[in-house]
Amino acid sequence: MNILILGSGGREHAYAWKLSQSKKLSKLYIAPGNAGTASVGTNLNLSATDFPGIKKFVLENKINMVVVGPEDPLVKGIHDFFLADAEIKDIPVIGPQKDGAQLEGSKDFSKRFMFRHNIPTAKYETFTKETLDEGLKFLETLQPPYVLKADGLAAGKGVVIPNTLDEAKKELSEMLANAKFGNASSKVVIEEFLKGIELSVFVLTDGNSYKILPAAKDYKRIGVGDVGLNTGGMGAVSPVPFANKDFIKKVEERVIIPTINGLKEEGILYKGFIFIGLMNVNGDPQVIEYNVRMGDPETEVVLPRIKSDLLDLFEGVANGNLHEKTFEVDERFATTVMLVAGGYPEEYKKGDVITGLENVRGSLAFHAGTTTSDAGKIVTNGGRVIAVTSFGNTMKEALASSFKNAGEIRYEGKYFRSDIGKDLEVYYNS
Ligand code: AMP
Ligand code: GLY
Repeated sequence: MNILILGSGGREHAYAWKLSQSKKLSKLYIAPGNAGTASVGTNLNLSATDFPGIKKFVLENKINMVVVGPEDPLVKGIHDFFLADAEIKDIPVIGPQKDGAQLEGSKDFSKRFMFRHNIPTAKYETFTKETLDEGLKFLETLQPPYVLKADGLAAGKGVVIPNTLDEAKKELSEMLANAKFGNASSKVVIEEFLKGIELSVFVLTDGNSYKILPAAKDYKRIGVGDVGLNTGGMGAVSPVPFANKDFIKKVEERVIIPTINGLKEEGILYKGFIFIGLMNVNGDPQVIEYNVRMGDPETEVVLPRIKSDLLDLFEGVANGNLHEKTFEVDERFATTVMLVAGGYPEEYKKGDVITGLENVRGSLAFHAGTTTSDAGKIVTNGGRVIAVTSFGNTMKEALASSFKNAGEIRYEGKYFRSDIGKDLEVYYNS
């Protein structure tokens, strides 16, 4: 099969790496990809949201399947675009159509969906510019901290958690009256703050049956000790110690089954990944958010732990026979440490030469923000640069390898969090 992956991050390098191991693969293309994906496939000078360009390439190169990495093309309707066009409607797209993508594309939609289907989640109210005064009054009824979420996609920045009522009121006004996040904050969801430990559970579904992928925990803040600005993710570990069989069973019964059934009941044919962001509140799962794609950097620890052929699983998604596919997970631990550019998540430089990749031993270096310069050198090309993934029989062993190899890779301004997984050590030492 000829496969086209859309996207350019560490997640897409992990997809490309995993798919390239399939016996069923003939040609692999990545649009636009990065310097890492270029080592396992062919990068294209094509944006993941250039739908007509993608159609042209798919037809000219006999592509048999399109795998969508990021949410943007899904929310914009890439899958619907394929289905609506007689020339490409039979080429499967891995990722939901626009209706299902609303689970990520609109926080208000996803909260309403969860309430309709009795899926455990924080209480909430949604406000618009017209109901700003009511929103300000609603804030007065809550206890701090306050959780304010821009309804639409805001490049991961749309959630703000102020500690004081004054800040919360100011923030709500900024979002609604001053369109702080543009159209994305024309509606704002205000919800109850959940106290607990976060983790993510991933599901692959053909719309009927599903496979539960290994759970992962990511590290969102820039600073050691989980402080400072939010990032796309600074590292991840899998498995998650407190996500034992009993906990995952609760997630399956209370969240996954009602989600899959809810989608079906609402006539939403969902083919692809569902990323369920959860808070473990005293042993009970509460949904924080849905994403309609895999996480980044969670993919860099989840996919390496899947022993089964990913292309075979994707065929199951496309053909509706996912239940017939074998699904095996590697019991070992996987960890990833994200190397980022100096300054990230604020302003940072691009174009710095990366050296030392050839010294990486016993880890996988998944490229996130890299490209090949005109001079043929691998250079930085994004805030998150390279995710260093390792296996271990213990989490400690995996982390030691990730940190050692993180030290081998060099570029100006390199930074990584040296405490990935540290908060979980208590679970293993007791
Ligand atoms: P989201 O984009 O919805 O995942 O929110 C971003 C981050 O905000 C989450 O990863 C959580 O750390 C935090 N968060 C979101 N909603 C809540 C909530 N209701 N209670 C506590 N923390 C939250
Ligand atoms: N690492 C979080 C995300 O991919 O949304």
